[in-house]
Amino acid sequence: MDSMEVNKAVAAFLIAGIAFMGSGLISDALVHPKAIKGTAIKVDLPSEQTAAAAPAEAEPPIAALLASADPARGEAGVKSAGCVACHSFNEGGKAGVGPNLYGVVGGPHGHMEGYAYSTALKGKQGPWTYEAMNEWLKKPSAYAPGTKMSYAGLSDPQKRADIIDYLHTLAKDPVPFPAAPAKAAAAPPKAAVANATPSEPPNGSTPASGGGDAVALLASASPDAGKSSMTKLGCIACHSLNEGGKNGVGPNLYGVVGQPHAHHEGYAYSAALKGKEGSWTYAELDKWLLKPSAYAPGTKMSFAGIADPKVRADVIAYLRSLSANPEPLPTADAAKQPG
Ligand code: HEC
Ligand code: HEC
Repeated sequence: MDSMEVNKAVAAFLIAGIAFMGSGLISDALVHPKAIKGTAIKVDLPSEQTAAAAPAEAEPPIAALLASADPARGEAGVKSAGCVACHSFNEGGKAGVGPNLYGVVGGPHGHMEGYAYSTALKGKQGPWTYEAMNEWLKKPSAYAPGTKMSYAGLSDPQKRADIIDYLHTLAKDPVPFPAAPAKAAAAPPKAAVANATPSEPPNGSTPASGGGDAVALLASASPDAGKSSMTKLGCIACHSLNEGGKNGVGPNLYGVVGQPHAHHEGYAYSAALKGKEGSWTYAELDKWLLKPSAYAPGTKMSFAGIADPKVRADVIAYLRSLSANPEPLPTADAAKQPG
């Protein structure tokens, strides 16, 4: 055997070894794909999900439960309760047996485009409020008889609150919690809600005919503060604010400042608001936001109003910014009309 033969033998051995190692790697990849290792298929249907009816009566209101809810517990809850077997939760996630649930809180019933909902669910009016979501998760078949969601329900109210808290985080602009009845509400929403329910007009003046006190404050108003007030006050539960945004319970508000009353085409306004002459000047918005029911008796906007002129000014300043060409701010003396 000459050295050539030896070299060939060594080379053959090396090649065989490399091929063997390589095939080992490949077969590893074929036989042990990571995705199958986990428990993707396992569905932990909870044992407690059956008896939804009996304890329902003595439950505290959902607003109170939400105050002590924990979205991290809720995220674990949708796994342990088996929701993840049928639902995805990420933005843009695909439908499974059930629809994707990103942005469901505050959205309409049947919020996912392209998903084939039952008429039972699709026929429900209004948005997914916290109260509605609470009833639904307690017992879907009672909330929407004929629903396609084959799920008995969650009897534990705190578990529902945790899950609802988690669902509410799945949004760019989470819908604020409803005000808790007692001391349970956190400080900022509570202050905001106090502002929103004036028991008497500020300064004892004539509110609905007056207005205008916020207009004088516009020059020093903060659109950023207005934006966060609109979140705290719950405006965004009913209104979208982005350009081309969809109507919810209320119309989309992009570009409303300077537009005629009932500005949004395709939204079914009340006759009360449609019948108003003129446009949304700063002064008119000020009166409206002070007390919608006084400004347009019979309006569909169920909102008490904002008593604090500073808060109204901030909100109006933010509404003004929702435009490609914001209306000019009023000058100190001629504070009546935008533009
Ligand atoms: C067996 C599959 C299944 C399970 C488990 C399940 N769901 Fe559903 N879910 C559905 C289906 C199907 C629908 C659509 C119902 C219809 O159209 O009537 C739905 C609808 C919903 C909706 C309404 C969505 C919308 O766009 O209006 C919410 C919210 C929801 N599910 C939450 C949950 C939560 C939270 C859990 C766990 C506690 C859960 N689901 C468990 C199948 C399931
Ligand atoms: C509970 C739901 C709800 C809440 C909360 C709410 N609105 Fe409304 N809003 C409506 C509805 C419904 C209308 C249509 C009123 C009508 O047709 O009478 C409306 C109308 C309006 C309009 C007139 C739009 C137009 O095109 O003429 C403005 C401006 C407005 N809302 C601002 C606000 C602001 C700012 C807040 C928070 C301080 C707020 N809304 C809170 C439901 C709501």
